[in-house]
Amino acid sequence: MVLDPIRRLKWLLHLICLAPLGWAWLHLLQGGFGADPVKELIHFGGKTALQLLILTLSVSPLARLLRQPALIRVRRLLGLWCFAWACGHVIAYLLLELAGDGWLLLSELGRRPNLLLGALAWLILLALALTSNRGSQRRLGRAWQRLHWGVYAVAILASWHYLWSVKSLSPEAWLYAGLLAGLLLWRLWRRLTPAPYATGPAARR
Ligand code: HEM
Repeated sequence: MVLDPIRRLKWLLHLICLAPLGWAWLHLLQGGFGADPVKELIHFGGKTALQLLILTLSVSPLARLLRQPALIRVRRLLGLWCFAWACGHVIAYLLLELAGDGWLLLSELGRRPNLLLGALAWLILLALALTSNRGSQRRLGRAWQRLHWGVYAVAILASWHYLWSVKSLSPEAWLYAGLLAGLLLWRLWRRLTPAPYATGPAARR
């Protein structure tokens, strides 16, 4: 059986998205997470989710730049992995830091607005993940496109959540925010400038 290149790329991306889990496990066993492994694990999950969000939003510009429209087919996979890592981040916080106490989570969300931004981003990601299949796309029609523009709100909320969570000035947090801002500005620029060679709805995203 010969797999087409995009299917091979999908397999590779599954492995790449899973790899941080193995890395975190080994790092944990070797004591590499330092004196506060719980905090480090929570941060690791959050950062991996953000990296995958950046990768997801990079697919369209890359497909254009490389003139490979078929690359768009890997976008859903990356978005779902971003959601999976965001879930891992929240579950690690809930189970390891708050001992599984859901009420404490709600009170923390009320007390710390930086966490509320993360929760909003997570809720939008949940809606996007649940409606990412072809059936929902068909059922929702044009509303599907509008709903999935929510990924831009996720980019803003998640960067803000990160910038607000780090207590001191963090060049890393600003780097992530800058990359996401660049990807959003690219889309804005594409919307505002007519592209004579645009080939369909996928070309506009
Ligand atoms: C219910 C949703 C969420 C909760 C409760 C939550 C909770 C937290 C907590 C407790 C921290 C540690 C900082 C602190 O203690 O102030 C944190 C940091 C972070 N979170 Fe979230 N988060 C949520 C959603 C998200 C989402 C959706 C993303 C990304 C897509 C994300 C990305 C990050 C990043 C990048 C950091 C900073 C890591 C670092 O400092 O190295 N979080 N979050």
